[in-house]
Amino acid sequence: MRTARWRQTVLALALAASGALVWAQDVNPDSTGREPVITRVALEKAKPVTAKHAMVVSAQHLATMVGVDILKRGGNAVDAAVAVGFAEAVVHPCCGNIGGGGFMTIHLKDGRNLFLNFREKAPLKATPNMFQDADGNVVEGRSTDSYLGVGVPGTVMGFDTALKAYGTMSLKQVIAPAIKLAREGYILKQGDVDSLESRTEDFARHANVAAIFLNDGKPFKVGERLVQKDLANTLELIADKGIDAFYKGPIAEAVVKASDANGGILSMRDFAGYTAQWEKPIQCKYRGYAVISAPPPSSGGTTLCLILQIIEPYPLAKWGYGSVNSVHYIVEAERRAFADRNTYLGDPAFVHNPIDELLSAEHAASLRATIKPDRATPSSEIKGSLGAPEGNHTTHYSVVDKDGNAVAVTYTVNFLFGNKQIAGNTGFFLNDEMDDFTSKPGVANGAGLVQGVINQVEPGKRPLSSMTPTIVLRKGKPFMLTGSPGSATIISSTLASIINVVDFGMNMQQAVNAPRLHQQWYPDVVYAGQGLLTPESQKSLEAMGYTFQQFSGGAVEAILINPKTGLLEGANDPRRPAGLAAGY
Ligand code: GLY
Repeated sequence: MRTARWRQTVLALALAASGALVWAQDVNPDSTGREPVITRVALEKAKPVTAKHAMVVSAQHLATMVGVDILKRGGNAVDAAVAVGFAEAVVHPCCGNIGGGGFMTIHLKDGRNLFLNFREKAPLKATPNMFQDADGNVVEGRSTDSYLGVGVPGTVMGFDTALKAYGTMSLKQVIAPAIKLAREGYILKQGDVDSLESRTEDFARHANVAAIFLNDGKPFKVGERLVQKDLANTLELIADKGIDAFYKGPIAEAVVKASDANGGILSMRDFAGYTAQWEKPIQCKYRGYAVISAPPPSSGGTTLCLILQIIEPYPLAKWGYGSVNSVHYIVEAERRAFADRNTYLGDPAFVHNPIDELLSAEHAASLRATIKPDRATPSSEIKGSLGAPEGNHTTHYSVVDKDGNAVAVTYTVNFLFGNKQIAGNTGFFLNDEMDDFTSKPGVANGAGLVQGVINQVEPGKRPLSSMTPTIVLRKGKPFMLTGSPGSATIISSTLASIINVVDFGMNMQQAVNAPRLHQQWYPDVVYAGQGLLTPESQKSLEAMGYTFQQFSGGAVEAILINPKTGLLEGANDPRRPAGLAAGY
């Protein structure tokens, strides 16, 4: 799998270097492979879904409707977010999960901003060199397609923790819709089939996976029903016995047994010792708005805020969306912020993260001062800018309730369908989140990120993430909820959704649809969505030293609370055609 992807990338890079704009999605390993072409005319016409009271936007329409139903029955945004999360584990199995982990950003109606960290942890037997062979070379597939790639899952504890602290409903109540969808099945749409079809060969490798996710050995077709009885039983066990069934009981036992049988290192001690934690969210200001986002072990909020602080003085609104100047300065800000991200950030339980320095006005000014007005800076000239450090699949959804509570969740199994394996008859895919660690300093991971020793594997450590569930406040009240899947492109997709509204005056749907940009330090290319650049602006930028590669970018699921009308404006990303924005 990964070999093919990497060959494709190398080919794409070679073609890009020769000046041709080429098609590749490798930078976003959770892409479902279908990228709608969004013309400028279509972009002009795009409109969000509106609602008066409450709104849910997710990458799968049935999960969205589970959330809307909970809100209509009087549940709050946390109840709905947890119900959507369990439902997505059934109806969006590539990415929604109980076998992975994630983050939840919450703004409560009383003004509190909260952040819940339920990122997976490395097993206690993990070691820094576990993905290298005896010669120190990274072994392809070991961190992505094997049981060694599985981090201790956090989703079930995360959802339970959020619900107990701020929900109003029981675990049983919010899991019930997911159990029904798994037991009775659901009818597949084109978007569902696209993501399942993309992993047919992987599913065929394991009899217990093929029995569920292939239809008599063949890919499911649009209109067919996907039933998941094993997953229904697992969810029922959690609903009846609580999360101990997952962390101390039969579910952990089944995963550990499968791990033992397949060369993994997961133990019952890993599951019993797992913790979900409340953290202080990252906060920064951008043009008068307050941005509330993900702190380490996610790099998302820090990198997003660093980019915003670098670009704030530039007149993006005057320059316009997709203009040579906007592209140039956003790309240069991203390049510098990602160099810092990849050098200085890791799990704060293990390493020091210099957040105050990275997000100081002085640091943004010093990085800004290195941007040349008329030329691209080669990534080889950029280093992590604070001196020596001390030391990707995914889905996003957004929920706002009638009282103004707001919840943004991004959670993941890393690659599409995680490590593509299911332990015994548990019915859920396990993650391959260990690939988010640095397998070897200086060697790119599956998302192409070249990371440092600060993010090396250690027992019990959480791998550095790019997930960026973000709530933007205006005068202390929710203005926008946003976030995306897409490994490193999560950060640039989330960034684009904010500046497309704040700087370029787009409505929420236009801001989500608009072709995006991404630069992550290495590789030294700029990823650009089809239609972002005119041939003339691309030529001007190439003359400044840029090399472009076409990509899809993440899949933003966003809500804007329009301060003029008071209406909620929901926008599902057309890059997830099975998704839906709905409210009441
Ligand atoms: N697995 C993608 C991320 O956490 O960044």
